[in-house]
Amino acid sequence: MGTADYLAKYFYCSAIFEEEVAKSYQKISEKVSDKEVAYLLEYIAKDSFKHAAAFKALTTNLANQIECGECGKIMGEALVKAVEEARRYAAREDAVTLSELRSIIIQFENYEGYASEEYLTVLYVEVVKLLANEYYADLKNYKTLLEWVIEDEKRHTQILTFIKSRIAEQTKDT
Ligand SMILES: [Fe+2]
Ligand SMILES: [Fe+2]
Repeated sequence: MGTADYLAKYFYCSAIFEEEVAKSYQKISEKVSDKEVAYLLEYIAKDSFKHAAAFKALTTNLANQIECGECGKIMGEALVKAVEEARRYAAREDAVTLSELRSIIIQFENYEGYASEEYLTVLYVEVVKLLANEYYADLKNYKTLLEWVIEDEKRHTQILTFIKSRIAEQTKDT
């Protein structure tokens, strides 16, 4: 597999991951009663949909078509499990209590960990830069896009910390 092919698959799988994570944030935001927490979760959901779109755009520059089903091999089984879990959250229909939300937020922190460690590393920005220099001039713009995504991921972790203190405050009163 050539470098461009590998990267194309990597970003394609990243797009799938972001999309499933986005849907789970979105659904949980609709199921919590605390309005402030709901809007903060919605904020992360919107960013994550945006990231999925960025990865899809990047992928179109690298390959004409990508086969699905290889993400386990490319991204690792832990990430596949995370995607399955995110899908379960996205399918949720009943209300989420604040104390349950606390454990969901811990799972969400794991997603953010994958997002910033597994694929949104400075390394990938560098690889894209390298590819841009050698083969694909168009990719230069994506280096900037990836940097924005990385910045967003740092913010997501901060927002989750913020939400946790909000939950702690809320549950202290009751
Ligand atoms: Fe993201
Ligand atoms: Fe994120």
